[in-house]
Amino acid sequence: MKDLVKKLIDTHSLSLLEYEKLLCDRNDEDMEVIKEEAVKLRKEIYGKKVYIRGLIEFTNYCKNNCYYCGIRCANKNVERYRLTEEEILTCCDMGYNLGFRTFVLQGGEDPYFDDDRLTNIVRGIREKYKDVAITLSVGERTKESYEKLFEAGANRYLLRHETADVEHYRKLHPESMSYENRINCLKVLKDIGYQVGAGFMVGSPYQSNKTLAEDLKFIEEFKPDMCGIGPFIPHKDTIFKDEKAGGLELTLFLLSVIRIIHPPVLLPATTALGTIDKKGREKGIEAGANVVMPNLSPVNVRDKYLLYDNKICTGDEAAECINCMKRRMESVGYEVVIDRGDIIK
Ligand code: SAM
Ligand code: FES
Repeated sequence: MKDLVKKLIDTHSLSLLEYEKLLCDRNDEDMEVIKEEAVKLRKEIYGKKVYIRGLIEFTNYCKNNCYYCGIRCANKNVERYRLTEEEILTCCDMGYNLGFRTFVLQGGEDPYFDDDRLTNIVRGIREKYKDVAITLSVGERTKESYEKLFEAGANRYLLRHETADVEHYRKLHPESMSYENRINCLKVLKDIGYQVGAGFMVGSPYQSNKTLAEDLKFIEEFKPDMCGIGPFIPHKDTIFKDEKAGGLELTLFLLSVIRIIHPPVLLPATTALGTIDKKGREKGIEAGANVVMPNLSPVNVRDKYLLYDNKICTGDEAAECINCMKRRMESVGYEVVIDRGDIIK
């Protein structure tokens, strides 16, 4: 075993240069050792359990124009939609009956969902379901807004940092967005008491082993409760339409490395991973992930929330999705459980 791999396993930490070297010099043997260690750690903490999150994509309106994203505001080919509070609650009812104990409300940064509207929705879910975790993933908002949503009953917040390299961030986002604000939001969310999720795309344009090393160092230092990583996949209506998608092997390697850096982290095997490879989510779980996020959005809006091309599961009802997921996880020896699935620290 290489000294660097041993150091990572023994100390859960490397310097920036060492992370970069780990990525540059990785070979099949290193990857196997790291994967085995990641699976060992995952099993020590979470056994063979796989936590499920019911994803409700409740608006595809967005005021931002992230260069990689299919629903960015400049894309005029998107048919925009918003779910009503009633429709969102119907998704939750269906999800609860199917065994979901976490609902993830995700959307673009849609000004229509101001604090009053969004807190009402969160409160509505909370009043009905005391035993679920409510996760929000609606981008950058003010501290006051995050506080109100937390008081209304939200527990978790997903806000991928996207890249921990300021210059790289600039190449993925327009001038109106800032790396500093994104990172500050993550810190504010943590201070308020949310379980917080950071994360990044693998293989995004201009990403390098150096920028990835910065992502790994950021994860090591910030210690998010959740970490969403999945391959970048081009979308036909973005300036990155001709870029290559992120790779399976690198995504799996990074999942394992992140498990070792921060063993308790809640780590999803993402839909994007399942999109670049038919068995991507199973492989993600086998590399150290412990969460999957089946879609609970109504089928009639599924094909309007397309962040990237060829997204899977856009035609299946929630019940089909969960059964498909259970079978997939069982096929690799893991078990989907009915549980809120909080981080075990
Ligand atoms: N608006 C919220 C935000 O900014 O955090 C949540 C929705 S946003 C669409 C969710 C995530 O989708 C982003 O954080 C990004 O990493 C991912 N994403 C967007 N476009 C993508 C693409 N082309 N390929 C893979 N992932 C993508
Ligand atoms: Fe806002 Fe993608 S640009 S959700």
